[in-house]
Amino acid sequence: MVKFSPSILTADFVKLGAAITELDNAGTDMLHLDVMDGIFVPNISFGMPVVQSIRKATNTILDVHLMIDRPHRYIEHFAKAGADIIGFHIEAGSDVAETLKAIRELGKKSCLTIKPATPAESVFPYMELCDMILVMSVEPGFGGQSFMPESLAKITAIRNKANEMGLDIDIEVDGGINMDTAPLAVKAGANVLVTGNVLFSADNMTKRLAELREVVAK
Ligand code: DX5
Ligand code: ZN
Repeated sequence: MVKFSPSILTADFVKLGAAITELDNAGTDMLHLDVMDGIFVPNISFGMPVVQSIRKATNTILDVHLMIDRPHRYIEHFAKAGADIIGFHIEAGSDVAETLKAIRELGKKSCLTIKPATPAESVFPYMELCDMILVMSVEPGFGGQSFMPESLAKITAIRNKANEMGLDIDIEVDGGINMDTAPLAVKAGANVLVTGNVLFSADNMTKRLAELREVVAK
């Protein structure tokens, strides 16, 4: 079944608690938390204290997407803050295998993430250490951008490789997911969809989430 991971990046942070409760009630599968440091990406979002507060506000799975330089320095901090899945970028300057292992040793799920220009094959040597692979379908840094169709072939290449290796891995796609692109990503082999703007621009997030579920089930 396809899982949805709503990104709170474009939420009104004053009303974050209410939005999280609404998403919980709408039966979302997890929550996607975009951490940005202004160095790895040209934007700054939030860090551990916000993750810690969100942890207290919901029991849902917290899917933390680290867009930070040398992420190994902060794995333990985000684990303590309450992350369930810790994802980091292959391009961010940490030892990839060591960082993936460190995440699992902390009892968390590991996720390796690639930017649009990074080939699918770059994750192949690490797949056995990953619970999830995140394929970015926009340049990381901002919500509300357009989906890059080139990401579809990368998703398929990773799904095929996982099948070939007998790995039941989650493949998440992040950026520009909407009613049109969600089914394309799923057909390509993704089973976790990050949804930011498509939900937060809706008058009714519960209704929009139900519509998305319907469109990917077809
Ligand atoms: C971008 C973030 C995404 C973003 C998704 O750097 O990683 O998670 O918030 O937002 P939408 O769905 O609006 O593209
Ligand atoms: Zn993200």
